[in-house]
Amino acid sequence: MNIAIFVSGNGTNCENIISYFEGSTTVKVALVVSNRADAPALERARRHRIDTAVVTKTGLASAAIPGKILDEHKVDFIVLAGFLLMIPAWLIERYRRHIINIHPALLPQYGGPGMYGRHVHEAVWRNHERQSGITIHHVSEVCDGGDIIFQAATDLQPGDTPDDIAARVHRLEMEYYPKVIEQLAAGEQ
Ligand code: GAR
Repeated sequence: MNIAIFVSGNGTNCENIISYFEGSTTVKVALVVSNRADAPALERARRHRIDTAVVTKTGLASAAIPGKILDEHKVDFIVLAGFLLMIPAWLIERYRRHIINIHPALLPQYGGPGMYGRHVHEAVWRNHERQSGITIHHVSEVCDGGDIIFQAATDLQPGDTPDDIAARVHRLEMEYYPKVIEQLAAGEQ
């Protein structure tokens, strides 16, 4: 299965997925796509000799160019890893149930527009939640609303800061996102 990873920022998930599948015979990271040319994730991908492409918000809206890039890399599955643009309808249609996202909280709580990265952990902290976690889900037309594939929770401690919560959630992301991708790939065989 050839995957493309879509990123907007730092790219720790992206790099973790790339490293996990280096040498794999079932999953190949064929491409990393970013809407931001200065995303550190692109540099991480290049270090691993993965092809990269920058597709702006306007570029993504029309199928022509991104569609061609995905075809050229024979991409059959798309993994969002900190990609902050909405996926347009044409792409959801074309990769129906073949686009997944990771969200740094236990959906359906703390999801929806504006709930990404730090904002999520600050909201969890403000509400004195006893748990947070990760949700890996299919991407649908509804922001953070697609079917849930996998969740993992982590207990939070009373003294935890938003940074502590982010670190606990990050550990779950590193542990589980590649494994869930691997399982989905096995189901495609
Ligand atoms: C990750 O924590 C991911 O769950 C989150 O952005 C971070 C990206 O970090 N995604 C969202 O908030 C999507 N709504 P990374 O660039 O270091 O992988």
